[in-house]
Amino acid sequence: MARKTTVQRAQQHRSLITHEQPKSPISEQFRTLRTNLQFSAVDQDLKSLIVTSSHPAEGKSLTAANLAVTFAQQGKKVLLVDSDMRKPSTHFTFRINNTMGLSNVLVGDFCLETVVQDSKVDNLDVLTCGPVPPNPAELIGSKAFAQLVEHAKKLYDMVIFDTPPVLAVTDSQVLSQYVDGVLLVVRSKVTDKNESVRAKNLLEQTHANMLGVVLNDRSIEKNSFYYYYGK
Ligand SMILES: Nc1ncnc2c1ncn2[C@@H]1O[C@H](COP(=O)(O)OP(=O)(O)OP(=O)(O)O)[C@@H](O)[C@H]1O
Ligand SMILES: [Mg+2]
Repeated sequence: MARKTTVQRAQQHRSLITHEQPKSPISEQFRTLRTNLQFSAVDQDLKSLIVTSSHPAEGKSLTAANLAVTFAQQGKKVLLVDSDMRKPSTHFTFRINNTMGLSNVLVGDFCLETVVQDSKVDNLDVLTCGPVPPNPAELIGSKAFAQLVEHAKKLYDMVIFDTPPVLAVTDSQVLSQYVDGVLLVVRSKVTDKNESVRAKNLLEQTHANMLGVVLNDRSIEKNSFYYYYGK
């Protein structure tokens, strides 16, 4: 059997801090993020959002997963969808299998209810990516995707989509049109400010509803944590 690379090992040992350490300062920051999102959408029906960023490895997947847990902890029925069909990772975070998922629903092989999996977190279901398709952009832009979002919104109180980076592929721009809002992740000391602005502009070109920015991995007194500020 081939030896696992360091990257593969890191992918497979992601921790879900909001579930494992709900009283930690990081989990508290996620609760603040949840509250701020609810305030930011006070006059809107915020039932679906995408989490994206300008480049890879800025914390989209961790933010999406922990935010989903935090909404579920509030008693909301939540679905987390791994719509990063380029580099799916949600199945690693939740330690569930990825034999079937989003791609199977989009090509019409299975319905959402059949392939959704229970997570170990109460009130939280997960739709993993499923087999990585050769044509992610086509699937993301399909009518089937728009229908899936509408169907999921009928079954759940909140649907959160993990997505690929905005400046790499158009998937997030396309997805932003199906959902009620967009959350942009910026990684402290890593993300170039101009690149985030470029990502924001691209999203706004498709009339995305920008909810705000998450500043990830900001270190204060040697602790890394998440901090949220509005748009
Ligand atoms: N605040 C943080 N503190 C420590 N490690 C972090 C933090 N945020 C992200 N990471 C680590 O950085 C890596 C990238 O995070 P993540 O997968 O969430 O980013 P991503 O934006 O989804 O990346 P990709 O574009 O590759 O999907 C992971 O190994 C993750 O554990
Ligand atoms: Mg990711």
